[in-house]
Amino acid sequence: KTRRTTVPQIAARKGGDPIVSLTSYHAHTAAIVDKHADFILVGDSLGMVMHGMESTVGVPLDLMIMHGRAVVKGTQKALVVVDMPFGSYEESPSVAFRNAAKIMKETQCGAVKLEGGARMAETIRFLTERGIPVMAHIGLTPQSSHVMGGFKTQGRDEDTWAAHEADAQAVSDAGAFAVVLEGMVEPLAAKITKQIPIPTIGIGASAECDGQILVLEDMLGLSPWTPKFVKVYGNLGEMIEKAVEEYATDVKSRAFPSEDEIYR
Ligand code: KIV
Ligand code: NA
Repeated sequence: KTRRTTVPQIAARKGGDPIVSLTSYHAHTAAIVDKHADFILVGDSLGMVMHGMESTVGVPLDLMIMHGRAVVKGTQKALVVVDMPFGSYEESPSVAFRNAAKIMKETQCGAVKLEGGARMAETIRFLTERGIPVMAHIGLTPQSSHVMGGFKTQGRDEDTWAAHEADAQAVSDAGAFAVVLEGMVEPLAAKITKQIPIPTIGIGASAECDGQILVLEDMLGLSPWTPKFVKVYGNLGEMIEKAVEEYATDVKSRAFPSEDEIYR
């Protein structure tokens, strides 16, 4: 069995070869992603992608644990990072520790991710000092979409850059081993990447980031709608529809099951 990529190995990639990452929510797709990704994120986007929710706000802790466990079991090589869902960490560092420890014990993942910059610094420090590696997530933070009034690209107004830069510095100082920069204007993401000593993982950010991440189903062409920042590399939606249509035709014509698929 090959050893998994470790948190320090990801941290050491700052300024080096770009870090490859995708989300995964289930064992069999994770096994494919595992061949090419440095780390796999079990993102709370699974609420929308797997469970038809309208936002990530409704995702419960137990759901993250179930999918996290499946992805750890399905993989051997990549570091697995599990998102802390809305409501499981914001209240206090001790609540965050309790829930992060539960995620790590029950999934055997290698790290957790949580949203927020300066305001989460104390919690990030509390967790990392007690053995839980934390990936931070700043810029567009979907769990705060109700406060922000939707999913809005960050940093369009240059007056807001200082606050985002301060967030990046705060999570880095607090001990986060990497930080996701989501949905921010390119020059801001590039600037932050140069300023902080930990890897930045871009999504709707910049090619200058130390790594990139996308939601797997989005880049596979399975999601009915994707934002501008997604490059669609596959056409899984079309492939599934074609297969389902052929199957339906075969069932109706009794072409399935054929001699090959029955026991004599
Ligand atoms: O939940 C998720 O998929 C994420 C990535 C988009 C970074 O947080
Ligand atoms: Na997320």
